[in-house]
Amino acid sequence: MKLFPYLLLLLSPFILFAQNKKQAVIKIDAAAKTEINPFQYGQFIEHLGRAITGGIYDEHSPLADQEGFRKDVLEKVKELRTPLLRYPGGTFTKIYHWEDGIGPKAARKKRKNLIWGGVEDNHFGTAEFISYCRKLNAEPFLVVNMATGTPEEAANWVEYCNGTEDTYYANLRRRDGFKEPFNVKYWGIGNEEGAETDAGRHQDPELYIRDTWQFLKLMKLQDNSLKFILVGNSEDIAWSSKVLQQLGPVCDFLSIHLYSIPKDTTFNSLITSIDEIEKPLVKMESLLAKMPAKVEQFNKWYRFPSRKEPIKLAIDEWGIWDLSSGKGKGDYQMEYQYNWSHALGVATFMNLFQRHSSSIGMATWAQTVNVLAPVMSDPTGSYRQTVFTPLKAFRDYAGKYNLQTAVESENTAGGFKTLDVSSSITEDGHQLTLTIVNRDVVNTVQSNIEIEHLPAPFKTGILKKISYTAAHLYAVNTFKNEHSVKKSEKSEKITGNQMTISLPPASFNIIILQAQDMLRKN
Ligand code: AHR
Repeated sequence: MKLFPYLLLLLSPFILFAQNKKQAVIKIDAAAKTEINPFQYGQFIEHLGRAITGGIYDEHSPLADQEGFRKDVLEKVKELRTPLLRYPGGTFTKIYHWEDGIGPKAARKKRKNLIWGGVEDNHFGTAEFISYCRKLNAEPFLVVNMATGTPEEAANWVEYCNGTEDTYYANLRRRDGFKEPFNVKYWGIGNEEGAETDAGRHQDPELYIRDTWQFLKLMKLQDNSLKFILVGNSEDIAWSSKVLQQLGPVCDFLSIHLYSIPKDTTFNSLITSIDEIEKPLVKMESLLAKMPAKVEQFNKWYRFPSRKEPIKLAIDEWGIWDLSSGKGKGDYQMEYQYNWSHALGVATFMNLFQRHSSSIGMATWAQTVNVLAPVMSDPTGSYRQTVFTPLKAFRDYAGKYNLQTAVESENTAGGFKTLDVSSSITEDGHQLTLTIVNRDVVNTVQSNIEIEHLPAPFKTGILKKISYTAAHLYAVNTFKNEHSVKKSEKSEKITGNQMTISLPPASFNIIILQAQDMLRKN
């Protein structure tokens, strides 16, 4: 009897450890599928600071190729496997005149970048953008200037890019050495047009709608196969609703920008601000749900067809503005050094988008190089930031279909759910992937996974677990050390539709279930 208190004391660390190990259950319905549009994994570039010139493009650098693209940067951006690239802005579009960026470089007009500062030499313009897209195997997405530009200027840009006849702007493209049309299908009509502080003039939705009609008509008359991204606003439901009601027959995508702006530097604020983004997203979804799937009655005198598919959301800018850290460098302090907590935030964002994939037609992370970016460069080299890891992982591992997924997990001390999860399955149904963020920064989570309607080939298979962690939440990559993110991998055989996995604190995990017949193929 006397020994008991000593034994208890000896065992206490283990008892404590056991208490700290949290439990969770992830439930997946493999029959409840919605298609993920690959355009959810897009990127955005803008003439802002060193995002393009001095980042992607640096014609006098010894590290550049013959076209002036930084080879080391291109190699890293390629790894991100972006299927869609948005250009030239952003707010920059409000002062951009595309004709400044075509033809012989020496003759291109230099202009003050009135939005972001500095001088824009326009050596990276339409043809350079298209060439970069081709190198990345990405669809080009152009945004037109509706603030200081005209509908005719926008329509001429369409003709320059897509024209096939013997006409002035199509011939200009040929003069510039491009016999074949660029075939740019995705066009944004303006950017954040409600913003009062920008150089725009459309703060009134009615004005935006009136002008958009004219832009859109002239552009469609040039090429009736274009798809339009119109400006919505997730914080101004009245604006979005009016745009949908009045431009619904010709709106293919409604643009919203979803930035996380945490109120301080803590992990709790960061995650809370990202979790809160679900609310505006749901509101926008309910607006879209009221719209007809296609428009049949359309006046033939428009001379182009109406929309024939459901309107989707274009989250054509998303990311993290950690203003509170005060650490951003460069123009407008937008060159952030992202740490491991931000990478966990990005994974949380991407899970959110995947879970809402039925309403999302595209999403382009803002931005790509140096500015709010996964890739950083200086004149001597470049490196991948921590946020590169989840951006790449989703593109590498997510399947074609999102699966309905529910999580039962305790809340963290910060008041949000410990586990954030989404899951997907490949087209052939033989590989199922879970992307899981353990947002508990102290505790390992032991989670059961239960899968309903698991396809027959999974009767036996293999479970591969890839875990990404870092020494602490504030670990960063730098030019000297690009390896603050640690990767560990482990595989085990599985049978049946239930399994248990262990998820380290503050980790991003990819769980891949491969059916038996996949194993034979590999
Ligand atoms: O991505 C930087 C800026 O953020 C974009 O130019 C603008 O659209 C947004 O507010």
